[in-house]
Amino acid sequence: MRIRILMAGWGAPRAAGSSGRRSHTLKRSSVAFAIVLILCIATLLASPTLAADAPTGVTNIFKPLSTPAQAIHEVSLLVLAICAGIFLVVGGLLAYTVVRFRWRPGDDGREPPQIYGSNQLEFAWTVIPIVTVFVLFLATARTIYDVQGAVPPADALNVTVVGHQWWWEIRYPELGIVTANELHVPVSPPGKARPTFLTLESADVVHSFWVPQLAGKTDVIPNRENRMWIDPTQPGTYVGNCAEYCGMQHAHMRLRVIVHPAGDFEKWAAAQREPPVDDPQTRAGRDVFFATACINCHSIGETKARGTFGPDLTHLMSRETLGAGTVPNTPEKLRAWVRDPQTIKEGCNMPNMQLTENELNQIVAYLLTLK
Ligand code: CUA
Repeated sequence: MRIRILMAGWGAPRAAGSSGRRSHTLKRSSVAFAIVLILCIATLLASPTLAADAPTGVTNIFKPLSTPAQAIHEVSLLVLAICAGIFLVVGGLLAYTVVRFRWRPGDDGREPPQIYGSNQLEFAWTVIPIVTVFVLFLATARTIYDVQGAVPPADALNVTVVGHQWWWEIRYPELGIVTANELHVPVSPPGKARPTFLTLESADVVHSFWVPQLAGKTDVIPNRENRMWIDPTQPGTYVGNCAEYCGMQHAHMRLRVIVHPAGDFEKWAAAQREPPVDDPQTRAGRDVFFATACINCHSIGETKARGTFGPDLTHLMSRETLGAGTVPNTPEKLRAWVRDPQTIKEGCNMPNMQLTENELNQIVAYLLTLK
């Protein structure tokens, strides 16, 4: 009853004279509201279908293919549904009120009745939000507990990921492998689960590890170890990126998770443990490499190149991209990168080494043997 009085009050006319302009503004805002509503619904409908059986090649939170991502996906749908319900109720009431109680010719121009202290209304707008927040809290807390409380099985793969400005160092302490920007893991199908547990560290600033189809974001913080895990159910390449602004090339700090079919991961690991090939044809390039500052930042197998500031290059050519997903790893791009990385990834920590054309050719020929 009181609600009706209150609403009726909203329909009273305002100062005469401005009414024409007001109804015009009102029409325009109703149109804008309708457009926003249609856009929201279209976005929801256009989002990819929920049935998923392969990695999408683009970051996508709606096609989870790993238990933590699935758990987060489910709680997100609940949150989206509740928020959509609230939006429809509030937006619907607003639209109804705007249309039903708009100014009409012949309104008497009186101030609407002012209502204060409605117990029912105040009770409703206190209790409904509290219950809503409580439901969201319980659902979220349960998901966090399920994901973070998981105990690693004995055969879990352990990987340490170190965030750098602006690339990812990936270490397999039990396998003696160090690589960069591409995390290789075995597939973990239901029934034969072989999850990968990640220890996340940072060498400089705060980053955030995020591969949307596999798990939620986890911050990568200096002087702290964070843990997370993934169990991808389908082989393929999953893409992700740093999700915390970490400086100039934050956008070029991309990640690939390459999930190998059963048995294939071991082959990859064996190939990565192979020492670099010593090709007599490219020895000149190797000598130039070892004689320049390259070795202060990069490591190559058991050679005297032992730098850890930049990516390990032992199997450089087995990777798909250069500069953490900035360009594809082709001989042309590699040459352009070594000539002057700043033209490809401005601000990155690798300087232009001012190599002569001959040195450049020799070093690139050597790097191309690091398969
Ligand atoms: Cu690292 Cu953003």
